[in-house]
Amino acid sequence: EKGNYRHYMQKEIFEQPTVVAQTLGSYLHRESVSVALPQFDFDISSIKRVTIVACGTSYYAGMVAKYWFEQFARVPVDIDVASEFRYREPVLEEGGLALFISQSGETADTLAALRHCKEKGQTIAVVVNVPTSTMAREADLLLPTHAGPEIGVASTKAFTCQLAVLAALAAHMAVKKGLMSREEEYDVVTHLLEAPACLNSALDHDEDIAAMAHLIAPARDVLYLGRGPDYPLALEGALKLKEISYIHAEGYASGEMKHGPIALIDDDVPVIVLAPSGPLFEKSISNMEEVRARGGQIVLISDAKGLEEAGEGCLATIEMPRVHPLIAPLVYAIPVQLLAYHVACVKGTDVDQPRNLAKSVTVE
Ligand code: M6R
Repeated sequence: EKGNYRHYMQKEIFEQPTVVAQTLGSYLHRESVSVALPQFDFDISSIKRVTIVACGTSYYAGMVAKYWFEQFARVPVDIDVASEFRYREPVLEEGGLALFISQSGETADTLAALRHCKEKGQTIAVVVNVPTSTMAREADLLLPTHAGPEIGVASTKAFTCQLAVLAALAAHMAVKKGLMSREEEYDVVTHLLEAPACLNSALDHDEDIAAMAHLIAPARDVLYLGRGPDYPLALEGALKLKEISYIHAEGYASGEMKHGPIALIDDDVPVIVLAPSGPLFEKSISNMEEVRARGGQIVLISDAKGLEEAGEGCLATIEMPRVHPLIAPLVYAIPVQLLAYHVACVKGTDVDQPRNLAKSVTVE
């Protein structure tokens, strides 16, 4: 039921504080402020390599997770889209964890990759939203997201719940490997538990975003830029926009722009910059200057500090709460989802059932 919402997608965007809290609740222990994963019968501290395979939005969640596994657990991570994975003859050595991420648990390419990895002796972990799905049944380590049924074809709440589970998994691996002290674990858990409230503050900007959607709706092309874990968010923002508003959009790592995409920039191309304040912010500002010098119209998504430093001269700004870098990818998912949603509403497209797309892609 859509309740008071116009679309399932809108409802699902607004459910995120609740479902992320629900999901975190089953991976974090509030009283002891520690990570608590389900029981499984392999030694996670002996994992030598993590291979992440997924499609679409779930793949972008995997890209964010790569930063966390490497940063916290110091484990090398390979990541691939499922449709490419098997065909490149990946090297799958003993002691590897193959991690599959899927809302539906039925995506044909991801499932085929899972079976391939199983055959090659990898330990199979699955982050999945449908607990009765095929992938859930075939996992050694089942890590459910508790997003509830996702009806909108554009994935929203499944994504932020996937991020919540993946952050907990990376932290758990770090703890088991002796790389995360008790104090560090306490910090990570505390920041993760702050996520639902921060998602709520991000949602408070819904009306501002709705009001600026008409600036983006006429565009033929839109670029999204981000650095570090916000780079996958730029890709996700571009995917959301093209899926439901049919505007051509691309996501780039901010620093890659001058290696080609900058040639596209003129005053008809809005550039959405995802840049929370922090150590990489200066670099994002200089990328913005490059865009501006070519007449590009910038929409800056940042926190109050970032907007104060760089918000002048933007076509529009969207203010996010100031959050710990760990949860920034969850929080910055909200404005990119809302922007795509409101632009699609301005354009009058079928938000929940965009043309040519299926909720679950069960053919390879
Ligand atoms: O069910 P899955 O997570 O395996 O689906 C993967 C993709 O098909 C899915 O994320 C798709 O890209 C969405 N339409 C994105 O909004």
